[in-house]
Amino acid sequence: MTEPGPTEWTAGVSVGVGPWQGPLPDDPRYDPELLAAGDTRNVVDAYRYWTREAIIADIDQRRHPLHIAIENFGSDANIGAVVRTANAFAVDTVHIVGRRRWNRRGAMVTDRYQRLRHHDDTAALTSFAAEAGLEVVAVDNVPGSVPIEGARLPRECLLVFGQEGPGITEAARRSASLTVSIAQFGSTRSINAGVAAGIAMHAWITQHADLSSAW
Ligand SMILES: C[S@@+](CC[C@H](N)C(=O)[O-])C[C@H]1O[C@@H](n2cnc3c(N)ncnc32)[C@H](O)[C@@H]1O
Repeated sequence: MTEPGPTEWTAGVSVGVGPWQGPLPDDPRYDPELLAAGDTRNVVDAYRYWTREAIIADIDQRRHPLHIAIENFGSDANIGAVVRTANAFAVDTVHIVGRRRWNRRGAMVTDRYQRLRHHDDTAALTSFAAEAGLEVVAVDNVPGSVPIEGARLPRECLLVFGQEGPGITEAARRSASLTVSIAQFGSTRSINAGVAAGIAMHAWITQHADLSSAW
């Protein structure tokens, strides 16, 4: 088994399930070590005792045609949260644009189950989107944006987010057919990029996902 991650550090402290009770199943999706020791990973009950490979293979059959990109030209602690939420919504791929390094702690191990792809710059991301047939939607509350609350998001969609401080780059905005903003009412100029990504992903989910197949 791999090293435990943050959500597994509480192994044995009433999180998850204990050792398998009764005759051991011979389904190859089950991990013999987890069956013997119990499963304290942060996975939905349907995946208890499954190997990581089996879980990934199962999600891969159900991923949505939604891609997420986050710019990482400076330092961004929000990427982990974006990856975790993308995993929860069975997003196809999270694209990191710019620096390869990002703080994985906020991902709470979900990066092990989520397709991730790196692009050196926005041009590389845009080329990928064109080849994959994805419509690029920039997400930022900048002049020219339209409220996401009333916008129709494309089904084959790449949502692009900026980073703390500078916000979304001009290059990313130019690559997008649409820029959407999230309505705000308080004093702050913007919300956390990880939170914004969660709101925008959920807007896509409410428009395109089969909600009857949610856990
Ligand atoms: C903290 S914001 C960047 C700074 C922001 N442009 C400003 O003027 O304060 C980081 C990213 O979160 C997303 N974001 C934050 N608030 C948003 C909002 N109200 N609508 C849409 N996106 C938002 C955007 O992708 C943005 O690039």
